[in-house]
Amino acid sequence: MGQDAFMEPLSSTLGVFRCKICLLLLAGTCSGLTVTVPSHTIHGIRGQALYLPVNYGFDTLASGIQIIWLFERPHTMPKYLLGSVNQSVVPDLEYQHKFTMMPPNASLLINPLQLTDEGSYIVKVNVQGNGTLSASQKIQVTVDDPVTKPVVQTQPSSGAVEYVENMTLTCLVKGGTRLVYQWLKDGRPVRTSSTYSFSPQNKTLHITPVTKGDIGNYSCLVKNPVSELESDTIMPTIYYGPYGLRVNSDKGLKVGEVFTIDLGEAILFDCSADSYPPNTYSWIQKADNTTHVIKHGPRLEVASEKVAQKTTNFVCCAYNNITGRQDETHFTVIVTSVGLEKLAHRGKSLSPLASITGISLFLIISMSILFLWKKYQPYRVIRQKLEGRPETEYGKAQTFSGHEDALDDFGIYEFVTFPDAAGVPRLPSSSVLTSDGASAQERRSTTIYEVIQYAPAPQDHAQ
Ligand SMILES: *[C@@H]1O[C@H](CO)[C@@H](O)[C@H](O)[C@H]1NC(C)=O
Ligand SMILES: *[C@@H]1O[C@H](CO)[C@@H](O)[C@H](O)[C@H]1NC(C)=O
Ligand SMILES: *[C@@H]1O[C@H](CO)[C@@H](O)[C@H](O)[C@H]1NC(C)=O
Ligand SMILES: *[C@@H]1O[C@H](CO)[C@@H](O)[C@H](O)[C@H]1NC(C)=O
Ligand SMILES: *[C@@H]1O[C@H](CO)[C@@H](O)[C@H](O)[C@H]1NC(C)=O
Ligand SMILES: *[C@@H]1O[C@H](CO)[C@@H](O)[C@H](O)[C@H]1NC(C)=O
Ligand SMILES: *[C@@H]1O[C@H](CO)[C@@H](O)[C@H](O)[C@H]1NC(C)=O
Ligand SMILES: *[C@@H]1O[C@H](CO)[C@@H](O)[C@H](O)[C@H]1NC(C)=O
Repeated sequence: MGQDAFMEPLSSTLGVFRCKICLLLLAGTCSGLTVTVPSHTIHGIRGQALYLPVNYGFDTLASGIQIIWLFERPHTMPKYLLGSVNQSVVPDLEYQHKFTMMPPNASLLINPLQLTDEGSYIVKVNVQGNGTLSASQKIQVTVDDPVTKPVVQTQPSSGAVEYVENMTLTCLVKGGTRLVYQWLKDGRPVRTSSTYSFSPQNKTLHITPVTKGDIGNYSCLVKNPVSELESDTIMPTIYYGPYGLRVNSDKGLKVGEVFTIDLGEAILFDCSADSYPPNTYSWIQKADNTTHVIKHGPRLEVASEKVAQKTTNFVCCAYNNITGRQDETHFTVIVTSVGLEKLAHRGKSLSPLASITGISLFLIISMSILFLWKKYQPYRVIRQKLEGRPETEYGKAQTFSGHEDALDDFGIYEFVTFPDAAGVPRLPSSSVLTSDGASAQERRSTTIYEVIQYAPAPQDHAQ
């Protein structure tokens, strides 16, 4: 079939072959004869056919064309594969079923390709004309099995606790030769770091120890010269937390860790912290000098009628039963007085900002009044209060802070008097969050509690 195509130019008056694609960079030139190959390295797949394309051209009259193919492996003698003169092919009988050439086309077909066919293929073209022109090229051939889809295995598969345990990801591939492994986290290559290390071939990725930041979608990408495949992503189980414990409420005002609710209103608190597995939450109420767990679960409803005192301290505890770590946050609920409630109520028809501003104003005014009252009439009023108050109530007083300057510190203030000691009219209470009536009694003093205020901090206006 190619015979006519060959004979015609050869016997034509011009008798000149010109290569159709003259890749001069790859040209093997010898005075008028040019042999070119598109690529000096070709990657073949085992079991399939491999085509080694060759082009040549010359600008002289040719009386005969000879093409020879040789195969060479490192440290071995070159082997003759086949050759041709004009159209007749003379194969090496040992390989005659494997190599095919259709002269004058010098390209070689190898079918089927075996691993042993890897090496250098040399093509030599001789043109007989006015003298003999000769040129050759070399093509490097590699033979590989394609990669099969990799699978990632994690160890331990049940998961690891952050900062305590390590994790190893292994990339398993059933088939393929000359494999190169690469690890990806969320699609980006994983690099060696203080916690990431690789096995020599990058087949395994060690994370020592795991942290919350290691959570992500991991995959391994396996490449070889003829193929590449990526595994499905896996997300290793990493136990962490609790972090960022917070308490929020559906209504009421929140200032720092103090919530206010109107009398008669119910408020729902929500405790949340970031952890895996989810935390178990428990709520603790601090009443008198005792604490008791009042509820388990992330939510707590407080009905203000049930709040025995005007202020109540609560604690939300978050516990991660796998990491064994816990966190807790303290907060205070204050049931506002009727006047404040009215003010807040009126504020509702306005904007929340107006409401907050109104309450703030009210608080500042009442604080100022209290300050003045405190300054000019301290003893008389305190005595009156002492006389009018039952003994048991003293123990219930919630105390927060003993600062005297209410203008700077918002909170709940307690004043302790020694009625007999004229020189020492006031004594700050012992410590924050201590509602210890007993110790107050030990001091043989009487605790008077007054809720002064707290005013919203500017950044909390948005709530
Ligand atoms: C090749 O063909 C040319 C021209 O047709 C001829 O002169 C030459 O003898 C042939 N060579 C061989 C070895 O058949
Ligand atoms: C050689 O033959 C192959 C197909 O067998 C073809 O694709 C290629 O273009 C041919 N080369 C030349 C120089 O004719
Ligand atoms: C053949 O080569 C000789 C010497 O190189 C030269 O003188 C002659 O012209 C050439 N003939 C043709 C047809 O190219
Ligand atoms: C985690 O790896 C580090 C470093 O290889 C090792 O010292 C430590 O014992 C390992 N921890 C566990 C729980 O295996
Ligand atoms: C292993 O992976 C690292 C990071 O991706 C890379 O720098 C290194 O060259 C790889 N080593 C091998 C043998 O592939
Ligand atoms: C991991 O992949 C899942 C599903 O493809 C996706 O929902 C999740 O956000 C990814 N995680 C990260 C950390 O990218
Ligand atoms: C406070 O605790 C002490 C001892 O722990 C106890 O005797 C006292 O009754 C408690 N007071 C109240 C009001 O519960
Ligand atoms: C840990 O807490 C979860 C609820 O968050 C519960 O389902 C699980 O059984 C607990 N595990 C252990 C070991 O206590």
